[in-house]
Amino acid sequence: KWTMEEFIGKEIARIRQICGPKGRVIGAVSGGVDSTVAAKLMHEAIGDRFHAIMVDNGVLRLNEAKQVHTMLNRDLGVNLTVVDASELFFSRLADVEDPEQKRRIIGNTFINVFEEVAAKIEAAAEAEERVGGEPKGKIEWLLQGTLYPDVIESISFKGPSATIKTHHNVGGLLKDMKLKLIEPLRELFKDEVRALGRLLSIPAPLVQRHPFPGPGLAIRILGPVNREQVQILQKADAIYIEEIRAAGLYEQISQAFAVLLPVRAVGVMGDKRTYEQVIALRAVQSEDFMTADWFIFPADVLKKISSRITNEVAGINRVTYDISSKPPATIEWL
Ligand code: XMP
Repeated sequence: KWTMEEFIGKEIARIRQICGPKGRVIGAVSGGVDSTVAAKLMHEAIGDRFHAIMVDNGVLRLNEAKQVHTMLNRDLGVNLTVVDASELFFSRLADVEDPEQKRRIIGNTFINVFEEVAAKIEAAAEAEERVGGEPKGKIEWLLQGTLYPDVIESISFKGPSATIKTHHNVGGLLKDMKLKLIEPLRELFKDEVRALGRLLSIPAPLVQRHPFPGPGLAIRILGPVNREQVQILQKADAIYIEEIRAAGLYEQISQAFAVLLPVRAVGVMGDKRTYEQVIALRAVQSEDFMTADWFIFPADVLKKISSRITNEVAGINRVTYDISSKPPATIEWL
C-alpha cells in the first residue's frame, strides 16, 4: 500500500515529465478543496509555469474571491489571476428565473470569461518574449481537479441526479478547450484529497469545507438574481455558517446553506409593520449526496441564528428551517 508522501513525490515527478522543461499549464480554481489541492500540487511541480484563474461570477459567498486570493496567492504562493466578471454574469442573468437556464448561463459565461483570460495570459507571455525576456513555452495543458469517482462516474454528480438537474462544476466545463488535460487527482477519493491537502499545508477549514455548487448563490436565490438579492443572501449565509462553526457542529453536517425566498411576509419591528423577504435554512447529513437527511439542530442554536439573521440582515423578517429529506426533496432548492 502506497503512502500519501510517496504519491506526492511520484505525482510531482510525473507532472514535470509530461510538461517538459518549458510547458505551461492553466487551471480554474473555485476555492473548493479539489481545485485548491490540484493547484498547489501543480505549483510544487512547476512553480509559476502553472497559472490559476479564478472567475468571480458575482454569486460567490461573502468575501470569497478575496479569501481565495489571499490563501492561494499570498499563503500558498500559487500564480493566480482573479477576474471580476460579476457585471457580465448579472447582466446575462437579469430576469431569469428558471433553474436550468441559470445553470446554462453561468456555465457558458464562465467558459467565455475563462477563455478570454487564458488568451490574455498567453498574449502577455508572447509580448514579454519579444522584448527579450526569457522565452516562455506555450500554454499546452489544462489542469482538472477530477477525482476517481468522477472518472468511474459512480457516485459523481454526473450520476443519476444528472437527469434531475445538470450539475455544472467549474473544471468540468472546460474540457472542450484545445488543451491537453492534466488530472493529478484522478486516482484519489475525496478523503484522500483532504489528506493530501493537509500534507500540502492547505488550511484545515478549507480542507473540511462543505461542497459549494458551481452556479453558486444563483441556485439559492429563488426568482431573479441581482446584486441586491445576492448581498442579502451572502449576509444571512455567513451568519448561519459562523454560528454553526461556533456551536462546533460544522463537521457533523455534510452541507449547510441559506436560501433566499422571493416571497414577502408581514412582520413587526418596534411598533412598525414590515413586509419583507424570507430566508430558509438548509442543513443535511449525507454519505454521498445522492440521499440526505435533514440535520437536527439543538434548539438554542437555531434560535440564535434566527435572531441574528432577522436583526442583522436588512430585508429579512422571517427565518424558516427546511425539514425535507432527499428524496423527495433535493439538497439544493433549485
Ligand atoms: P442536489 O440538489 O442535486 O445536490 O441534491 C447534490 C449535490 O450536488 C451539488 N450541486 C451542484 N454542484 N453544480 C455543482 O457543482 C451544480 O449545478 C450543482 N447542483 C447541485 C449540491 O450542492 C449537493 O452537494
